[in-house]
Amino acid sequence: MCGIVGYIGERKAYPILIEGLHKLEYRGYDSAGCALISETTQNESAILNIYKAKGKVADLEAVSSGKDISGTLGIAHTRWATHGVPSETNAHPHISESGNLTLVHNGIIENYATLRDQLTKRGYTFHSETDTEVLVQLIEYTMSLRNDDLITSVRIALKMVIGAYAICVIDKRHPEQLVCARKSSPMVVGMGEENKEFFVASDASPIAEYTKNMCYLDDEQVALLQRGHDMQLYNLDGEEADVLVKEVNLDLNMLTKGGFPHFMLKEIFDQPNVLNDCMRGRVVNAPYSRPWAPQEDMGTNPLSVVLSAVTNHRRELLRAKRIVIVSCGTSWHAGLIGKQLLEHFCKIPTEVAYASEFRYSDSVIEHDDVVMAISQSGETADTLAAMEKAKKAGALVFGIVNGVGSSISRVSDTGVYIHVGPEIGVASTKAFTGQVTVLVMLALALGMAKGTVEQNEYDEVLHELVLIPEKIEKVLKQNEKIERIAQTYKYAHNFLYLGRGWNYPVALEGALKLKEISYIHAEGYPAAEMKHGPIALIDAEMPVVFIATHHQLYQKIISNMQEVISRNGHILAIVTEGDEQIKKMVDEVIEIPHTIACLAPLLTVIPMQLLSYHVAVAKGLNVDQPRNLAKSVTVE
Ligand code: G6P
Repeated sequence: MCGIVGYIGERKAYPILIEGLHKLEYRGYDSAGCALISETTQNESAILNIYKAKGKVADLEAVSSGKDISGTLGIAHTRWATHGVPSETNAHPHISESGNLTLVHNGIIENYATLRDQLTKRGYTFHSETDTEVLVQLIEYTMSLRNDDLITSVRIALKMVIGAYAICVIDKRHPEQLVCARKSSPMVVGMGEENKEFFVASDASPIAEYTKNMCYLDDEQVALLQRGHDMQLYNLDGEEADVLVKEVNLDLNMLTKGGFPHFMLKEIFDQPNVLNDCMRGRVVNAPYSRPWAPQEDMGTNPLSVVLSAVTNHRRELLRAKRIVIVSCGTSWHAGLIGKQLLEHFCKIPTEVAYASEFRYSDSVIEHDDVVMAISQSGETADTLAAMEKAKKAGALVFGIVNGVGSSISRVSDTGVYIHVGPEIGVASTKAFTGQVTVLVMLALALGMAKGTVEQNEYDEVLHELVLIPEKIEKVLKQNEKIERIAQTYKYAHNFLYLGRGWNYPVALEGALKLKEISYIHAEGYPAAEMKHGPIALIDAEMPVVFIATHHQLYQKIISNMQEVISRNGHILAIVTEGDEQIKKMVDEVIEIPHTIACLAPLLTVIPMQLLSYHVAVAKGLNVDQPRNLAKSVTVE
């Protein structure tokens, strides 16, 4: 939802900004822009150059090629349009009436129309359709009224603003300063050596190669960054705040495609490794924590789950009468599996709510409820708002997050990181399997603490869980077969995905993946519900994907298949290996290794991911940057 990069220091800013924007392009990619200030000799004022382009960061590079890109102070932006169509005019940075101030923004200014009217009456002219332009004009207006410095004017202007913002502002009359601020949109400042330079970005990925020392701004904090000075941090009232610097270690390999044509494919293939990372140190006595143990010892190795969040918040978790999971998109699908896991192993009634609905609903939250927020980015605005609501009601807020240091991780009372590394492809893949893996570990740990899970079942599930990564490897070996199947489906206009029980959320996830990157309409449904509506759509033109592993309800799902076959539907079935019965009935099968029912989603989702990927590639679409979507949705 828009990416921001800023730099002030002694190096040339442009390459840092452009590289940074490339890393943030997952946040938005409909237009891009940058502003650079070059200092000149003492008597001349500094030069401000602004370049903008409709399209991707590569288009911005083309526009700025051959132009003056000098300057050691700069700000840049990649946009995901909210107010105003993607265009050069609406692209950031926006410039103030006098031409002195320029600003980039991520978020939404809700009272922009009122502010705009007031500023228009005072003689300010607006050129774009954005809500952002009002910010830069408002800061300039505030400055003109009181003759304050830049940071004070930013602070005072922001007090008049309703909405969400992460901003970077520069003033060509002050080429030694960069001011940034945030509320409800993420922003991190990286500290260069001896305060000679500072990096600003929407997340740590553009900064990680320069420094590990980072300061995540809190809501309504404003920072002043100046060469040769310590970073200064204030709240909107001007009270100085402590600059809390933490060490952030990002695996830089995760930020490259590593030889794969797309991030999405790389991240699909990353899953065996990153799920091991997710379990490392949590499933203890697992084979990877005892590399010296002979392979055959595995069966007798007693495994257990240790999650510090469960140990440290045992009392609140054990007294929970209800769990409410709040999340969005793919994370919501993981939540549906979480519900089944928590009810099965912990016997705690669990609800799953769309965060966007929950935040405005009349849901009654008690102080002894636990509200779990699941999020890949840790920045989703609706999920954050749902958490705030739960906090106000006194519930324990438990985060299951990938984004280390993200807003959701900081707002949570406790939680578990999924630790699958940065996910760049807009369509979420490894984050989903990481979330489900965490939910399995959590349900087992909590179930054991509550005494609601039998030792035998606990041992069996854990033993199977540590085998999941190598079973995913086996599913991935069918990549070429799935690629071939995708060729036959690329002309389809509609798809139906059906599953039951543990695999019903996978049907929803499969349909979402296809919609997101292939632009093919797809619906996920519980298989037995098909006869209450979707069956009317079935004909020879409509592929139906059945997730039909060899578990409970298997015979019933076979009956659902018969209903499709008798209406000439075309079936692709995801089955347990060796399933001859379904193979004889349907058009295509993809086999997955045997596992226990509650872990099946970790395997059945892999063909869903690969199928959508290959259909999108076969259609010649931009897999990593599908139209209209953004990876991190920091607006409502
Ligand atoms: C966006 C992304 C999805 C993601 C959803 C929730 O829509 O494109 O991939 O599932 O947001 O994001 P979160 O970061 O909270 O999991």
